[in-house]
Amino acid sequence: MAIKVGVVGMGGIGNTHARAYKNNPLSELVGVCDINKQRADKAAEEHGVKAYYSLKDMVNDNPDMEAVSICTSGYENGSMHFEPAIEALDYGLKTLVEKPLCADIRDARYLVSYALSKKQYLGCNLNHYFTDIASEAKSKIDAGEMGELVYCLHKVGFDGSELSYGGVGDLKSRWLKPYSHCKAFLTHPFSVMRYFCGDITHIQAFLDRPGVRKTAGDPMLSINSVNCKFEKGGVGVLLSQRGDARFGLGGWWSYEHAGTKGTFCIENCVEQITYWPGHKKDEEGKLYLPEKEVKNTGITSFDATFPNRINAWLEDITNNVHYEFIRSSGRDALATLEYIEAVIQSYEQGGEMVRPHPLPPIHGTPDYIH
Ligand SMILES: NC(=O)c1ccc[n+]([C@@H]2O[C@H](COP(=O)([O-])OP(=O)(O)OC[C@H]3O[C@@H](n4cnc5c(N)ncnc54)[C@H](O)[C@@H]3O)[C@@H](O)[C@H]2O)c1
Repeated sequence: MAIKVGVVGMGGIGNTHARAYKNNPLSELVGVCDINKQRADKAAEEHGVKAYYSLKDMVNDNPDMEAVSICTSGYENGSMHFEPAIEALDYGLKTLVEKPLCADIRDARYLVSYALSKKQYLGCNLNHYFTDIASEAKSKIDAGEMGELVYCLHKVGFDGSELSYGGVGDLKSRWLKPYSHCKAFLTHPFSVMRYFCGDITHIQAFLDRPGVRKTAGDPMLSINSVNCKFEKGGVGVLLSQRGDARFGLGGWWSYEHAGTKGTFCIENCVEQITYWPGHKKDEEGKLYLPEKEVKNTGITSFDATFPNRINAWLEDITNNVHYEFIRSSGRDALATLEYIEAVIQSYEQGGEMVRPHPLPPIHGTPDYIH
């Protein structure tokens, strides 16, 4: 039977979730909710469901609703996730929160521990690695085909240049804080690096902003360079900027993963993957280098990641996956925020190396022994 779901927060992203639920046979969208009546009404009209102006009313009207997406925003794009997410968990709903899980690390830690204490599903929309090409590359890593990690290099950001800078804008803007880019955005690249390489144990960061922002009095540290060391071995570099420069090689999103047996690089997130296999031996035992393999998906829109991620969420619910092992869990999202917190600490300590705060333990059940 289809899982009955609702969506809270009907901005652009809430409507994207609603569309994904409507188009997925595993789910039935039963309602949309926004404190802004106009937005709720407009979304209800588009999706052909009832509009609600509070989560409580949506729950009371739909007692068999099982899951909800929290697509609110707030400062640093995550400050308004905490309260509706806690409320949803209190109603016993399986709760998928948009990224970043929360704007404040203390809220994020509390939210994850609260969901764990209730043994309830808490997921996050870390959608950047929900693509066929990322899954294919991950299977090769898991099968040992890439060998040990040597390095990963993730470059991700927005296209721009000095003249395209739009100025500081509204003083009440959710972006007018030094760490807004780090908090709102780095959750994605960190989630991708962790998906491919595992937990990060050491972080060292440099943050900056170009002169055009300094002159305008814009506090946002829009240039981020982060060095990482992984628990399983190997190192990583994350480079990010917010429209301060043009894209270079790899477009807006490139992830290069170099292993002792081969290297791959994903370009533009959804678009293309290239493999450079390591040396092989021919029948006479002579070393040779196989040709590189390029796969272009023909997909260009990043929006393709949303239905994939939401399908994984629905599959995990349908398959009754243990709450600690759902894909892109609240704990996974918390990991990215702990890394961001370490980035901020490193910057504030003049570029010192920082060890991220540990994550809550996974306990598992006899059914899930890893
Ligand atoms: N995963 C991704 O790739 C991706 C991309 C962009 C944005 N996002 C995230 O999606 C979220 C939403 O972004 P957006 O651009 O649609 O934001 P938005 O500000 O346009 O919309 C948010 C809506 O939530 C409503 N809202 C706030 N608090 C509420 C509450 N307690 N109950 C009900 N409604 C409430 C607001 O009235 C608003 O209409 C953000 O957290 C953002 O970081 C994710």
